[in-house]
Amino acid sequence: MAEQGLFSADLLSPKVQSILPAGYQLRALRKTDFETGFLDCLRVLTTVGEITKEQFEDRYSWISRQDGGYFILVIEDTNTSPARVVGTGALIVERKFIHNLGSVGHIEDIAVAKDQQGKKLGLRIIEALDFVAEKTGCYKTILDCSEANEGFYVKCGFRRAGLEMAHYF
Ligand code: ACO
Repeated sequence: MAEQGLFSADLLSPKVQSILPAGYQLRALRKTDFETGFLDCLRVLTTVGEITKEQFEDRYSWISRQDGGYFILVIEDTNTSPARVVGTGALIVERKFIHNLGSVGHIEDIAVAKDQQGKKLGLRIIEALDFVAEKTGCYKTILDCSEANEGFYVKCGFRRAGLEMAHYF
């Protein structure tokens, strides 16, 4: 039997699963995803580096210990053999003191494999992350993106709010 992965299947949107193309599956990241194209998918977003299996599993284990704070989901195409991860996104839940102990969902690392873009998979990933955010009690989700991706997030229902500042070390 396949492992459950990083979080419970109760947090996977049935609506998103029902409207994915045939043979595409929404699921939590698994420890075995070192082998399934997850890192290649992230390479469309930015530099990933040459991560070993052991390093991947160590980071996976750390994330899995974050107790309801860190969710990474994937869309897998099971029409191919072996099945391949074709999209991914992450939600980090920040629990605050303000707003009556409010929680904010930070959407990070959205990536759809180059040959799979334009099939609404990006939109489905955002909908699925928003589902996790609502279920875990977040009052909003926020994200940073480039000007080039603003139109995508507007299509996903986001609006421009504020401005990003950064210190790089
Ligand atoms: N600008 C304007 N509109 C866009 C863009 C864009 N860059 N990308 C997609 N859209 C539109 C689509 O045309 C579609 O519109 P429609 O409903 O009128 O047909 C709608 O947005 C939904 O598009 P999807 O098909 O769901 O987009 P896709 O699956 O290709 O995923 C994504 C979009 C995630 C940006 C993908 O192109 C990608 O992986 N790019 C490289 C990595 C990247 O830039 N990731 C985002 C980083 S920001 C972050 O992670 C928080």
